[in-house]
Amino acid sequence: MSDALQWHRSRSYLMPIGGGPIPDSVGPAMKNLTGSDEPTVLIVASDADDGQRLKRRLFEPPGGAVEITTLQHIKQDDPSTLAILEFADIVFLGGGDQVELVRLLQDTRAEETLLRRLSEGVVIAGTSAGASAMGRIMPCGGTGWGALRCGGIPLSDAEDVNEDVSPQPVVIGEGLALMGNVIIDQHFFARDRFGRLAYLVSRYREQEVVGLGLDESTAAVIDWADERMLVLGNGSAAVLLAARFDRDTTDEPGPLTSFGLEVNLLAEGYGYDIGRRRPMARQDARDLVAATIGGVGPPALNSCGEIVSEVKIVSDIRIGDHPILDFVTGREVEFSFEGQKLTGYEGEPIAAALHAAGIKILRYSNELRRPRGFFCAIGNCSECMMRVDGQSNVRTCIEPLREGMRVQRQDGKGDLSAGM
Ligand code: FES
Repeated sequence: MSDALQWHRSRSYLMPIGGGPIPDSVGPAMKNLTGSDEPTVLIVASDADDGQRLKRRLFEPPGGAVEITTLQHIKQDDPSTLAILEFADIVFLGGGDQVELVRLLQDTRAEETLLRRLSEGVVIAGTSAGASAMGRIMPCGGTGWGALRCGGIPLSDAEDVNEDVSPQPVVIGEGLALMGNVIIDQHFFARDRFGRLAYLVSRYREQEVVGLGLDESTAAVIDWADERMLVLGNGSAAVLLAARFDRDTTDEPGPLTSFGLEVNLLAEGYGYDIGRRRPMARQDARDLVAATIGGVGPPALNSCGEIVSEVKIVSDIRIGDHPILDFVTGREVEFSFEGQKLTGYEGEPIAAALHAAGIKILRYSNELRRPRGFFCAIGNCSECMMRVDGQSNVRTCIEPLREGMRVQRQDGKGDLSAGM
């Protein structure tokens, strides 16, 4: 496998789409993000007709195999669906009703597989309900400015709401948590949903959520590990944030108070750095643009900051010359990372050898499964804990590299029984 293809295959992207007519650029973008001319696609639709419609719109002519399954098959742990999920390059979640979509997907083996595949490299796209279901907190009801006057209720209480009475409260459900800190809403401007997303980011501001409102015919490409996104399509994406406030008023009856509500509107080509909470101009989103429009790997930039076609994956970033320190380089040794053969120098920290190979995500956090890398680099903070030779919780910033080591990213707390 070429370096460039390997680079693509190891990355995951989420691609929520705001419903309505899907922009022409979405089909080619999904394919480009996989780095493969013949990606295998699994469409998860509410029914077979909807699956065929999505296939014609997005994957004609098909490059590779395009399989369609329904939510009912998923619910029943259909073995052939699960087998395709294991190696699909693209998984596309159709529209419909997000409550129903999550009800049928949640706690299935398919959901478990999808979450695992995110740390291995996959493109998961979804339109309308399929987009909203990607977040952990999922907007399910409430619309218009009324949402700012009525507060929110959990989905389990929604049956008691009199639908003839207007305005309605915001109904809050639990999504698939493919991206835990982003609340995604769709048909955003077309269906007047600003109020409910503003309410949700205000209510969950202590959890530092970001609200993403995608208008119809608009999509976002989100690099899952880097937490940066790029907007595609014909409309705008709104990114909403609420500032922390010393008194929470979101559970009180009556109109909402929310201090420091920030709204960013982004059109095609602009992006947002979710991790750093800041918008990205076109210049800052160059690598995402390159991956989306079919660059062959992480883009190399020339001295003017322009993307050039030749791609060099990683150069040696180790410090050789230092004014006061001497670095003694050990012999070159082979080790493996997630089954991939790499080389480094004996005695250097494992994390240093990984960084030199371009690998910066060392583990995923315990609760929100967010990517983690170096922090203190002196063995104090635990951010670099990995699984080494079957042993979890090894601080790789201070653990010396040895020949033949098997290094793996650690998911959460790791396997605490190993090595006991
Ligand atoms: S980076 Fe802090 S312990 Fe390794």
